[in-house]
Amino acid sequence: MADNTTGPIGGKTVLVTGGTGGIGKATATGLAALGARVGIVGRDTQRARSAAADIVRESGNSSVDVFVADLSAQAEVRRLAAEVLDRLRRLDALVNNVGGFWATRHTTADGLEHTFAVNHLAPFLLTHLLLDRLTASAPARIVTVSSGAQAMGRIDFDDLQGEKKYSGQRAYNQSKLANVLFTYELARRLEGTDVTATVLHPGVTRTAFAAEDPTPGMKTLTAAVRPFMKTPARGAATPIFAASSPYVEGVTGVYFANRKAKKSSKRSYDREAAARLWTVSEQLAGLNAAKR
Ligand SMILES: NC(=O)c1ccc[n+]([C@@H]2O[C@H](COP(=O)([O-])OP(=O)(O)OC[C@H]3O[C@@H](n4cnc5c(N)ncnc54)[C@H](OP(=O)(O)O)[C@@H]3O)[C@@H](O)[C@H]2O)c1
Repeated sequence: MADNTTGPIGGKTVLVTGGTGGIGKATATGLAALGARVGIVGRDTQRARSAAADIVRESGNSSVDVFVADLSAQAEVRRLAAEVLDRLRRLDALVNNVGGFWATRHTTADGLEHTFAVNHLAPFLLTHLLLDRLTASAPARIVTVSSGAQAMGRIDFDDLQGEKKYSGQRAYNQSKLANVLFTYELARRLEGTDVTATVLHPGVTRTAFAAEDPTPGMKTLTAAVRPFMKTPARGAATPIFAASSPYVEGVTGVYFANRKAKKSSKRSYDREAAARLWTVSEQLAGLNAAKR
């Protein structure tokens, strides 16, 4: 959605995870319309190619790169990062958009709880693996799509994986708070560089969100409120703003909603929790100085 808070970004390259549907696809379309070369990531080749064709048609920009990876598996995140580094010579912005809700507990190929792995660990690992390219392309931006649900989140360090007790909502809220804690800690660690880290709530948006494993009654409820939800293009306005607007050049460690800086939950400013989550995430993502 181009408007008076965005500007042309020709010559820039942006990677949007989950650019094949929902808010991510609309974000990629909006950024492509502003002139960026856009890479999109999805799990299925056909779906990703078809989304890329839509983005080219709707934006009038043919510079769209397709990447296929299932971000629930760390080996896939690593393979994706290697492919991105190979194919995209510069990276001006990374939009960590992939995220979802699962009513029942699933585990990933790495034996991790799915919500925590996809919503938090995948962007954590991908960001680490692409950081040198972002730094080399600076000024650069790392934008992570959280949710208003961060306000209800608590990080349960004694049961991060929901092994003792699982609730889809609790896991989702925790992962979205983790997005905010991660961003604030990343911004602190990137101080003095020309790479910014911001996080945002896109607004309640009409997408395929939670369709894979909804809670009972969720479909009926969603159908009832669907007419009142934002269109994907409107849901993409804040991610596009954070990834491209000249108004937020140099702005870091900030939570946006409706294209405005907002306070996030009190818990999200807990530096001790952010540092602890960072350390645990490094361990769970198999990251240490030697492996990076
Ligand atoms: N919709 C809302 O109301 C709302 C509100 C607040 C926050 N959010 C946040 O906004 C973000 C986008 O949500 P959405 O509503 O647009 O969801 P969506 O319609 O379900 O789209 C999810 C996107 O992520 C991709 N994806 C899902 N799992 C993946 C995986 N394991 N590996 C790679 N790609 C994967 C999907 O692509 P394929 O299916 O093609 O693989 C799709 O492009 C999420 O972080 C969500 O938490 C949404």
